[in-house]
Amino acid sequence: MHSLAALLLALPIAALAGQSHGAGAHRRHHTRTPHVARQSGTTYTLEDDYSGPSFFDNWTFFTDSDPTSGQVTYLGKEDAMNAGLAFVQSDNTTKIGVDSTTQLADGAKRNSVRIQTNKQYNGGLFIADFYAMPHGCSVWPAYWSVGPDWPNQGEIDIIEGVNLQGDNQITLHTGPSCLMNEAASMVGSLVGKTCTSANGMNAGCAVVQNGNNSFGHNFNTMGGGVFAHLWTQDAIKVWFFPRSQIPGDIYAMAPNPDGWGNPTANFPTQDSCAIGSHFSNHQLVIDTTLCGDWAGGAFQADGCGQSCSAFVADPANFKYAQWAISSIRVYQPAGSQ
Ligand SMILES: *[C@@H]1O[C@H](CO)[C@@H](O)[C@H](O)[C@H]1NC(C)=O
Ligand SMILES: *[C@@H]1O[C@H](CO)[C@@H](O)[C@H](O)[C@H]1NC(C)=O
Ligand SMILES: *[C@@H]1O[C@H](CO)[C@@H](O)[C@H](O)[C@H]1NC(C)=O
Repeated sequence: MHSLAALLLALPIAALAGQSHGAGAHRRHHTRTPHVARQSGTTYTLEDDYSGPSFFDNWTFFTDSDPTSGQVTYLGKEDAMNAGLAFVQSDNTTKIGVDSTTQLADGAKRNSVRIQTNKQYNGGLFIADFYAMPHGCSVWPAYWSVGPDWPNQGEIDIIEGVNLQGDNQITLHTGPSCLMNEAASMVGSLVGKTCTSANGMNAGCAVVQNGNNSFGHNFNTMGGGVFAHLWTQDAIKVWFFPRSQIPGDIYAMAPNPDGWGNPTANFPTQDSCAIGSHFSNHQLVIDTTLCGDWAGGAFQADGCGQSCSAFVADPANFKYAQWAISSIRVYQPAGSQ
């Protein structure tokens, strides 16, 4: 775990390439010729663009204790920025991370960041381009959205996983009466049908991705990729594109989900779940917690050692516990705004 070889293996290519890890990716981003294969259907127009120097202008830093029992202290905006845990690089990459310099006493909480959009959404096409996500033992990152009245206004988890996992999990949580009984066409594997959630019964309906590249170290070594999700009254669908497979229409900012093929995760409305009635007023959230209900609970089984809590003390364990974000863009069907 701590040998130099292991450490080098753990290095994302991005990190090896120096601070502007996204350089190559950025170039592709800007020069790739858009190939817009528009089929029938809806045209989407850009509503909100979270990227570049103004990234943090429209997010609130959450400073309550972690609701998932993680061993973190979430910093306010000024503290996070002063500590270098939230900033926008000169190449416009947004970085959000966990403190990786402070030695802590066993069991102490480590500084981290959790942010949520000021704006609330009631549907749309959300396209999130990440160069890297936090990973490593004890680390539990998530990119998700949630309404104020949980679980009745729903929760959509787009990126979530813990410890050394290589496959992302996409999950919905809802109030009563939402079961995914009907099979839907998708690339991922449905591992739980019960979206209905409550405190103490919180697995949700979940899809696990395949391919060992949608979460953690392997995601980062390929320069990340795009998670796009389309939330309508009819369905919640999520697509995953490794960096080399991002469709041209996404680069061109003229996204056309009709041309993207089978979604990775597909939660269609059905008799046992009216998708349209379970999700409202969602804020997007990005956070990184440590240990807690999931990462702590799975720590030993995931081969991370005996004590998650003790693992948190060493700052060197959090060198790769960082988000590197290109952009999060929200689109709405043309004419709907
Ligand atoms: C972001 O903040 C700016 C400046 O306060 C405001 O004009 C804009 O409407 C906000 N956008 C969103 C999506 O909240
Ligand atoms: C960063 O974004 C700003 C605003 O969108 C833009 O003016 C600037 O050229 C960008 N810088 C780089 C290095 O891409
Ligand atoms: C996933 O990738 C990691 C790193 O390359 C590798 O160690 C692991 O064996 C892979 N797991 C599977 C199930 O392919």
